[in-house]
Amino acid sequence: MDYNLHLDFLRVTESAALACAPWVGKGDRASADDAACTGMRARLGEMNIDGTIVIGEGERDEAPMLYIGEKVGTGTGPVVQIAVDPLEGTNLCANGVPNAIAVLAAAVEGKGFLMHAPDCYMDKLVVGADCKGVVDITLPVRVNVRLMAKALGKDIDEITIGILERPRHEQIIKDIRDVGARVHLIGDGDLSIAIAALNPDSGVDALMGIGGAPEGVITAAAVQCVGGEMQARLVFTNDEQRARAERMVKGDLDRTLTANDLASGDVMFSATGVTSGDLLRGVRYRRGLAYTESIVMTSDTGTIRRIETQHRSSQSED
Ligand code: FBP
Repeated sequence: MDYNLHLDFLRVTESAALACAPWVGKGDRASADDAACTGMRARLGEMNIDGTIVIGEGERDEAPMLYIGEKVGTGTGPVVQIAVDPLEGTNLCANGVPNAIAVLAAAVEGKGFLMHAPDCYMDKLVVGADCKGVVDITLPVRVNVRLMAKALGKDIDEITIGILERPRHEQIIKDIRDVGARVHLIGDGDLSIAIAALNPDSGVDALMGIGGAPEGVITAAAVQCVGGEMQARLVFTNDEQRARAERMVKGDLDRTLTANDLASGDVMFSATGVTSGDLLRGVRYRRGLAYTESIVMTSDTGTIRRIETQHRSSQSED
């Protein structure tokens, strides 16, 4: 991916994080999300790209901005598909707790691909490079945990699995604990934990369980940049969702999807912390300056940059 393009995308996630940071801890999800979208959209609008939102805030009639199919950028430059989550973890931001991030993935048309995922759930298994080719989402959890322990050279009680704290995960949480491993429960934000799982030093060895499918596509872009493995299955809660997915996704909807099915070729990932968490530090202020931490990655070169930026004021986007 073009060098300047991914630095421009870094500015886009920084803008979203700076824009919603004043809403951290204010208990107002809608205003936080709206601010993040406005900040992200304004910055995307300045980019010299012919961009299209392929994963966004919803369909055109549901979302006032960053809706699926919305054109972004000046219209001149490379044709780019963009999957955005301006504020991943709106509750986390509103409650002022860890792991809210502003994030996007992008692919230049003809060079890379992002699946146009339906707005349904996705069962996910994400592991780092040491467990690549070792786990299988169709196997029982206890088997995968044992296989991971062997591959990582750890005792089972040294394995930590990140998972969303939801009633639907009661059984899988019990299974992880029964086999002797640890559970890292999160209130929201499975994207951050999935990316943390790709890093052998993060303290989280895998993400398991069901979260959003759109977040799953952005996660897959990160997997392509960092290495590691992702396996996934679409999960539908009603017939309407399945019918919509039939129109959007080629092939058997019940098959196991790999990272390659979700994001492939030359893809880029950028995330900026809103609240400090497992992946990134959040927006901080000192003496009229704002500080952000971001991670920017490209799959073609495998470059991973962690960027700490000082902004002249909280609203500054340069
Ligand atoms: P939002 O930022 O859109 O609120 O998503 C947060 C999130 O926790 C995602 O990280 C996760 O994939 C999804 O919601 C899980 O959905 P649900 O809350 O319905 O279980």
